[in-house]
Amino acid sequence: MTFSMASVRPEQGPPLSVPLAFFFTAPFALIAAGVLIAVRGSEGLASMWGNTALAAAHLGAVGLLLFVMIGALYQMLPTVGGAAVPGIRLAHGVHALLLAGAAALIVGQSGGPVGAFTWAVAALLAGLLLFLTPTGVALARSRAEGPTVWGLRVAVLGLTAVVFAGLRLAWIRSGAPTPGVLASPTGWLTLRIAHAHLGFLAWIGGLLTAVSWQVVPMFFLAPAPPRALPWVTLGGVAASLVGLFTALFVDVEPSTVVWLALPGALAVWLAHPAWTLTALRKRARRRKDATLWFWWLAMGVAPLCLAAGAASAAFDSPKLPLVYGTLVLFGWAGALVHGMLTRVVPFLVWLHWCAPHVGSRPMPSVRELLPQRPIAVGFTVHASTLVAALAAIALDSSLAWRGLGVGLAATGCVLLWEVGTVVARGRAATR
Ligand code: HEM
Repeated sequence: MTFSMASVRPEQGPPLSVPLAFFFTAPFALIAAGVLIAVRGSEGLASMWGNTALAAAHLGAVGLLLFVMIGALYQMLPTVGGAAVPGIRLAHGVHALLLAGAAALIVGQSGGPVGAFTWAVAALLAGLLLFLTPTGVALARSRAEGPTVWGLRVAVLGLTAVVFAGLRLAWIRSGAPTPGVLASPTGWLTLRIAHAHLGFLAWIGGLLTAVSWQVVPMFFLAPAPPRALPWVTLGGVAASLVGLFTALFVDVEPSTVVWLALPGALAVWLAHPAWTLTALRKRARRRKDATLWFWWLAMGVAPLCLAAGAASAAFDSPKLPLVYGTLVLFGWAGALVHGMLTRVVPFLVWLHWCAPHVGSRPMPSVRELLPQRPIAVGFTVHASTLVAALAAIALDSSLAWRGLGVGLAATGCVLLWEVGTVVARGRAATR
């Protein structure tokens, strides 16, 4: 198995405007989550059943993570997965529909009119079908081999499953008559737990692990994973995907769903960080690099996600699911996605705008497009906000929640500064 720049074919990627449109949505989702929490104070945040908590969770899970990950998939499918996506310009329609659907979902979940759920279902379903159809065709047709492309396939199936379960929950919430196939044979809690874990493990875990096998060796000149590791990880994720998806249709207890999540959880929160941390320790590129801090944070938080998930399942405390969701969405996946953006955005801007001029006039390097300082500030604000979130859950005081709101909004602003700097410098160099 070889992982190298040679296996990546950037020139086959989509126009730069496609990934950038998705990436630029992420900071605004963080700002919106921050404003929502700052305005509400402690209202709706005492447990994962509170409306502010659910809305904030989806601003993270959908507004931040899903948008960045869909933008990354559009980029990676042709360049890494050998799968050219037909009708790539439709991606802008996908972006608009997902934005409208996500906004309606947040309005509904934060306690707005229940009719918002109907709009959310319509727009999210349309947007995701417009995304899944061409990318599914591309992935099915791809002749590329190896664990990364299989990881992309599993992640796209995970996306389909989490969205199916989420739309079903949203449809029932909308109060519209529920056809027999959509009515839950299992309890609401089973459906919620299966939905959340399809998202955490199959969709987010599937994609982040597959991307890591490719980018850790490439970004940091670190050793590739041992041959068996990606397949074992993929096996755990795929087992949970099948088990959790089945749980949406048969009558199972919430406690059983937890066991179905276990193989995926061990794979993404134990095996994957164990390899990644070892590979990073052996990296050949040893210059100062603030992006690395995001990797260390995310990989350090990953086993804590496993512990918090187990504690949430074992003890009946309303705070534990809040800690679990925060660690997964902001401490693990959010940190990794934030860190990856600080590498991927400069690389893509350089490739599309600067590379064509190299040799004819002086061009900034990839590192000059995003200097270390904004990345270091981004990391400090992100990590401090994680601490603020855990403190707010522990204290449950209005002041602590409002402090968290300010931290989330600040993280969004710094992320905007980071990606905005790259675009501004790239434009200035090529004007
Ligand atoms: C994109 C379409 C999605 C829709 C329509 C959707 C909708 C929903 C709905 C309606 C609920 C139940 C809330 C309630 O009881 O009122 C829920 C819960 C939840 N969703 Fe989503 N969701 C989506 C995507 C995601 C994704 C990608 C994740 C990522 C991991 C996610 C994570 C969660 C979590 C953590 C909960 C709370 C579960 C619990 O506390 O047991 N959702 N979602």
